[in-house]
Amino acid sequence: MNVLIVGSGGREHAIAWSIKQNPKVEKIFCAPGNAGIGGIAECVPFKVDDIDGLVQFAYTNKIDLTIVGSETPLVNGIVDVFEKRRLKIFGPSKSAAQVEGSKMFLKHFLQRHNIPTAKYRTFNQSEFEKAKKYLVETEPPYVIKTDGLAAGKGVAICQTSAEAFNTLHEYFEEKVFGDAGNNIVIEEFMEGEEASVFAMCDGADYVLLSPAQDHKRIGDGDTGKNTGGMGAYAPAPVITNEIMDQVENEIIRPTLKGMKAEGYPYKGCLYVGLMVTKDGPKVVEFNCRLGDPETQVILPLIDSDPFDLFYACASGSIASYRLKLKKVSAVCVVVASKGYPDRYETGKEIKGLDSVKNDSMIFHAGTKKENGKFVTSGGRVLGIIAMEASLQNTIEKTYAAVKGISFDGAYYRTDIGMKGLTK
Ligand code: AMP
Ligand code: GLY
Repeated sequence: MNVLIVGSGGREHAIAWSIKQNPKVEKIFCAPGNAGIGGIAECVPFKVDDIDGLVQFAYTNKIDLTIVGSETPLVNGIVDVFEKRRLKIFGPSKSAAQVEGSKMFLKHFLQRHNIPTAKYRTFNQSEFEKAKKYLVETEPPYVIKTDGLAAGKGVAICQTSAEAFNTLHEYFEEKVFGDAGNNIVIEEFMEGEEASVFAMCDGADYVLLSPAQDHKRIGDGDTGKNTGGMGAYAPAPVITNEIMDQVENEIIRPTLKGMKAEGYPYKGCLYVGLMVTKDGPKVVEFNCRLGDPETQVILPLIDSDPFDLFYACASGSIASYRLKLKKVSAVCVVVASKGYPDRYETGKEIKGLDSVKNDSMIFHAGTKKENGKFVTSGGRVLGIIAMEASLQNTIEKTYAAVKGISFDGAYYRTDIGMKGLTK
């Protein structure tokens, strides 16, 4: 089997590592990949949104399965283009990817199918005054979201109406997110603990991977700016068996049934972003792909064959896949460049990559090779992963491995996974 992975981060490195274990997998390509991925796959210089280039490449190189990591090509319809050429691909169609591509689509869908989520209203650019009036009538905090993709930055949580009005001004008039902010969703603020559940779907059926928790803020104790994710761990004990049952019965099953009934069956990973509230789990968001950095912990926890899992999802045969999960914890600590998520320098030599041994792992995010040396090339540089029976031991083992890595300005949070210890 020849496999093509689309993306360039830690998530894609973890995908490449996981499928490489299968002896059927002969050759892995990654577009565009990074220096770490280059150690186990051949990186090919396509941008993730170059759908025409990618489909041509897959066709010419007889790719048996393409696995899409990032959301942009999915929302832009890469799956439809590949399937038209009879190329097997892991991910949802353009219509199904709207669960992430359009917040309005998602909220209307959830409401139509009675799936628990925050109460909401939608407004378009010509309804600035109407939106203001609605804000005045409701209580803070106000949650205001752009309808379209905004690189994870299109959600504002405002404590005062003045702040909320300013957000409307930025979305509608300054157009800071371009057309993505032409329509907006204003929704009720939900209180609780966030976690993510990952359903690997084949259009009709699904299997569940370990529930995880991301750490989105830059600082310890969930303080400071939002980032792409500074670390993750799984399984997350906040998702008890009872809550998982609720998530399956009230969220995942009705979603898959509803999407099939409406003509866009869901295939690929359905990332269910949850708020565990006092009234039970509610949907914060759906993503149409695996999470980053959650993938770096949930794939190593799979004890059955990960390649067969991706292949079964893409082939509609998940019912015959026997998923087995390891009964251990996994933690991923992201090591970032000083200054991230704002400005940061790149080109710093990374030392200690060989110090991480045994069953600890490194997945590269923003690295490249210069004169035979690994150097930093992004905000998030590396993810360090370890697994152990108890979460406490896993955290200790991961941080021991992190200490072996160094580059000028290396920064990481020191509390990844600790919220799981209090459970
Ligand atoms: P989203 O892109 O929709 O996942 O939103 C980004 C982040 O904003 C989430 O991970 C939550 O931390 C927060 N958030 C979004 N919607 C809500 C809500 N209705 N109530 C509370 N927090 C929210
Ligand atoms: N970890 C959050 C995301 O992948 O969107």
